[in-house]
Amino acid sequence: MTNTLSPRSLIIALGADHGGVALKNRLAAALIEAGHQVLDFGTDGPASVDYPDFAHAVCAAVTGKRADYGILVCGTGIGMSIAANRNPGIRCALVHDVTTTRLTRAHNDANVLALGARIIGEEVALDILRSFLTTEFEGGRHIGRIAKLSTVPETTP
Ligand code: RB5
Repeated sequence: MTNTLSPRSLIIALGADHGGVALKNRLAAALIEAGHQVLDFGTDGPASVDYPDFAHAVCAAVTGKRADYGILVCGTGIGMSIAANRNPGIRCALVHDVTTTRLTRAHNDANVLALGARIIGEEVALDILRSFLTTEFEGGRHIGRIAKLSTVPETTP
């Protein structure tokens, strides 16, 4: 992965459970090779761990502005995405392909990505990472919609 994947050097917070640790380490290596800085919150081995612990740590780094973006990997990506989206200010997208990755950056201004290591292959994950880091938020009509994510009405229509 060359640094043309992103015009500027970024700080990326990474986290995984035992189901995602191998892919997380592969993504970390690619990011470092491309000139980005990685904050690796673990896990570091095959021992069984609880994915919310890693999701919340990565999200705290993003909302605390210690990282530009977060990447979370578990077996399916589902648990990580559910946990991440309970953090105010986090817009985590669970993606399986480049198109939804591009659109969640462009339309949702996603700041955390969740990946399922048992669902997608390494090459797909690397393509997703490249798309995530090179797609800008479009702003415009999407700004108000994103603002509404944090406002749950007391009564729904
Ligand atoms: C762990 O076995 C598995 O549940 C986890 O990696 C993830 O897929 C949860 O959503």
